[in-house]
Amino acid sequence: MSPDDSVVKLIRSLKLLVTLLGVVLGLLLILLLILLFGVPEFDLAQPPGKKLAEMKSVNADRHMMWKGPSEKDISKLSPTEQQMVGYGKELIVHTADYLGPKGSVKHLSNGMNCQNCHLDAGGKPWGNNYFAVQATYPKFRARSGKIETQAKRINDCFERSLNGESLNEQSNEMAALLAYMKWMGTGVPAKQVPEGSGIYKIHDLDRAADPVAGKAVYEQKCQSCHQPTGEGVMAPDEKSYLFPPLWGKHSYNTGAGLFRMSNLAGYVKANMPLGASYDAPQLTDEQAWDVAAFINSMPRPQKDLSNDWPDLVSKPFDHPFGPYADPFPVKQHKYGPFTPIKDWQKQHKNSNTR
Ligand code: HEC
Ligand code: HEC
Repeated sequence: MSPDDSVVKLIRSLKLLVTLLGVVLGLLLILLLILLFGVPEFDLAQPPGKKLAEMKSVNADRHMMWKGPSEKDISKLSPTEQQMVGYGKELIVHTADYLGPKGSVKHLSNGMNCQNCHLDAGGKPWGNNYFAVQATYPKFRARSGKIETQAKRINDCFERSLNGESLNEQSNEMAALLAYMKWMGTGVPAKQVPEGSGIYKIHDLDRAADPVAGKAVYEQKCQSCHQPTGEGVMAPDEKSYLFPPLWGKHSYNTGAGLFRMSNLAGYVKANMPLGASYDAPQLTDEQAWDVAAFINSMPRPQKDLSNDWPDLVSKPFDHPFGPYADPFPVKQHKYGPFTPIKDWQKQHKNSNTR
């Protein structure tokens, strides 16, 4: 063996050593980064079934909340699908620009955007999000007494929450909204309702909600944005709202989901004043119920509801229009206390037909 050979060998083993050291240092660095900044989120990589099962067991833990699809997965869709999802999202966020009183496509609705009520484009936990839509429709809804498709449900919001007319089910806009609902339901197994879907379920009070106390809450916590008139503030382009109306002729009508007190109080508790969330609420339950009572006692557009809730027994405890199957007065169905009505309904559901 020449001295040259052993030098070459030495250099080779040195190289190997340096590479190994590099790998070890690299691994240590990754470990350090993870320790410092926490484990990266692999939410969508997990089998959704398992995740949902885990989420059910721990209601209050924010890490168990379903968070919806992640933007990076959008590239897994075909270019056409991506375009439809994108247009669907645009319609949710800027509904009035396309379909409001000054809309560029059609004039169907009252100037509100879907996002005014379905926060973060329908992606906020307990912010009236769309996570359960794709997995649960078509479904039977007691309000109409019919099996409803997603398109029918979307049009319910056009006719009630946006106090407008329905969108043609064959239109490109409806196709885009449906593509968006499908995308928002990514990873949710059929028939499952992920934790944090829809509207926050607020606890009942043992008294009636009080519109007078609610007016004081409103003046203190809401009217700086929604205005003393409750009519909100238009954006500078006068097409949609900076702060949407809570009552008056441009607000949701008496057939809308928010006209039911439990929905409005739950929505407000988990989302308002702007910036509040279910895990950082700014109102007590009492304040949320009372301010909801005040808002829903103010004037708004009327909707003919004579065909709603064809089966009286299935009428919800807080539907504020009679007739009822139970003996409680209209006023109690509007403001509560609701627990006695719920108890009555529980007892009589069984004895009644079904
Ligand atoms: C004024 C508030 C408001 C506006 C504006 C609004 N919605 Fe809704 N939406 C609601 C409420 C309240 C519910 C019922 C939530 C519940 O019962 O849990 C709802 C429910 C829905 C659902 C069914 C969700 C489910 O999981 O069953 C869909 C789909 C929907 N809205 C779509 C839309 C679309 C699309 C728009 C815009 C064109 C829109 N909404 C505008 C308040 C609103
Ligand atoms: C800092 C401004 C601000 C304050 C304060 C505020 N809101 Fe809102 N509110 C908004 C905005 C903005 C939206 C629409 C959100 C969006 O489009 O993303 C909204 C939406 C709403 C909606 C659904 C849309 C509608 O018009 O029906 C309700 C209900 C609501 N707010 C009630 C309240 C109540 C009750 C309070 C007081 C407890 C309150 N807000 C305080 C800014 C505010």
